Amino acid sequence: MKLDGQIAAVIRPPEALFAGISNRRSISTVMLVVVFVMASCAMSSPAQENGRLALTPPMGWNDWAHYQCGFTADDILANAQALVKSGLSSHGYNTVTIDDCWMQKARDSAGNLQVDPKRFPRGMKAVADAVHGLGLRFGIYEDAGYLTCGGFAGSGVPKGGGKDHFLQDARLFASWGVDYLKLDGCNVYVPPGETQEAAYRQAYAAQAAALKEVGRPIVFSESAPAYFQGSPEWYDVLGWVGGYGQLWREGTDVKVFHPKKPDASRFDSILWNYAYNLPLARWQKPGNWNDADFIIAGDSGTTAAESRTQLALWAMMSAPLILSSDLRKLDSSSIAILSNPSVLAIDQDPLGQSASLIRRTPTVDILFKRLKSGEFATAVSNHGADTARVELHPSDLGFSGSDGCRLEFENLWNGKRQSTASIQAEVEAHDTEIWRVHAGSACGAPKRVGTIILTENEQKHDFGFEGYTRCLSSQGTATACTGSSSETWVVGTAGSLRSGDSCLAVASGKAIMQKCSANPAQHWTWTQAGQLRQGPNQCLTGAHSGLTLQPCGHNLVDQVWSLPSR
Ligand code: GLA
Repeated sequence: MKLDGQIAAVIRPPEALFAGISNRRSISTVMLVVVFVMASCAMSSPAQENGRLALTPPMGWNDWAHYQCGFTADDILANAQALVKSGLSSHGYNTVTIDDCWMQKARDSAGNLQVDPKRFPRGMKAVADAVHGLGLRFGIYEDAGYLTCGGFAGSGVPKGGGKDHFLQDARLFASWGVDYLKLDGCNVYVPPGETQEAAYRQAYAAQAAALKEVGRPIVFSESAPAYFQGSPEWYDVLGWVGGYGQLWREGTDVKVFHPKKPDASRFDSILWNYAYNLPLARWQKPGNWNDADFIIAGDSGTTAAESRTQLALWAMMSAPLILSSDLRKLDSSSIAILSNPSVLAIDQDPLGQSASLIRRTPTVDILFKRLKSGEFATAVSNHGADTARVELHPSDLGFSGSDGCRLEFENLWNGKRQSTASIQAEVEAHDTEIWRVHAGSACGAPKRVGTIILTENEQKHDFGFEGYTRCLSSQGTATACTGSSSETWVVGTAGSLRSGDSCLAVASGKAIMQKCSANPAQHWTWTQAGQLRQGPNQCLTGAHSGLTLQPCGHNLVDQVWSLPSR
């Protein structure tokens, strides 16, 4: 940690950094030592253990949500330096990625991508070298289609058919020393007679094969699912992306910074990305991460409370933490939030679990997550306009309700510890409290407890966070979540779904609650696609009019359920 001071001492403006790279003799011995030490830290990161990539959620910085196409190499390097100088890099934010617009619209006569010379007068290798020289990793953006989302040359099959450029581009990236590739999914050519999903799958498989062939360990971020959000194919795509890459965007972009409206609130957008990411927990494991998009906490349009909320929610989901703000302008309280080591440890926990939704009221979410150490994390997030008062008992989190069960809570924002039978919390509007929880031996192992939810087929966040999710209730409905105890379920090891003293069962083709027993009619099989099945082809169906059993369809909106994590 003493390193921080040394690094700060050698931070120089971007031009000087370039000059240092082109004239090696001008780099001081101190700089060389620091760079060497930092580079070796980066290489020994657990993110690349045993040759497997991204065993914990990737962290870093990307220009897009703050700059869009309005950047130059100097902006990239100034942010890379700020990442180091602020201490954020020493907390794990270690990859600097250049998003769209770095290339020209056309390739050269040999089919090579051409860097935009106005933005990158010294080319891309010089930028990559400078980023590496700061002890950071270097990431770049391309697209699986014939054009990027911004209309620049893509790596994919040309419009109308022809040869793709995945391997040629991967070789170029490897020659620059790229460590991380974000492959977007605009403008993918779909040949006649082929499905859109098949065309995307071919493109992402081809990129994965190309990365393998060039042999450099490059973390592969796939945007494919985001192009299917709101359709049944969304779940099919989520089913294959993990075989090709380490993380994937599943949906809408977080709201970008707009210089003409710098103060426009971006909180709804944070909530919306959280809303669609949380129910996808079952796709996630170490080396395979759902990406809820950039961390805009601390940038214009977010308050301190909202910044805590974004970081805490992303940490509870084990989501990638990719900052996308002007790091030079972050104030010290934002940097303190973003570098809170206790919250970051929840995000980077090696178990890689995403949180279970314990309870959802119209304004408050309660989340719970298992940690590798045998401890737990819990969070109370208040997106309402008033302070929320919450009391959490061990049984709410799935622990034994016995008198002897005491939980030790460490508040991760202020470090306060409490050892109590229940915790009472006041959570300010738009804020999130997050605790590390240690359960006493009388508490036993927690049951798999929480809500069972359906989500709507909606793609746009203007649909609203509140309307997106419906909660299965033991009243026989799947309607807007209220937070009532009828929406709390315990998932049994033998596939039972218990709420209170009763279990969900099928009788005469109907879904009913009955006394819990070993009756096979109470045995539900939860599939990776999210279906709750009984028998060969009957699915629990949460129509707005009530619960029924229907033949299982292809990822039908009323049949895709999210259960508490194991
Ligand atoms: C899409 C992506 C964004 C960004 C832009 C670039 O919208 O989702 O993250 O990469 O393209 O054009």
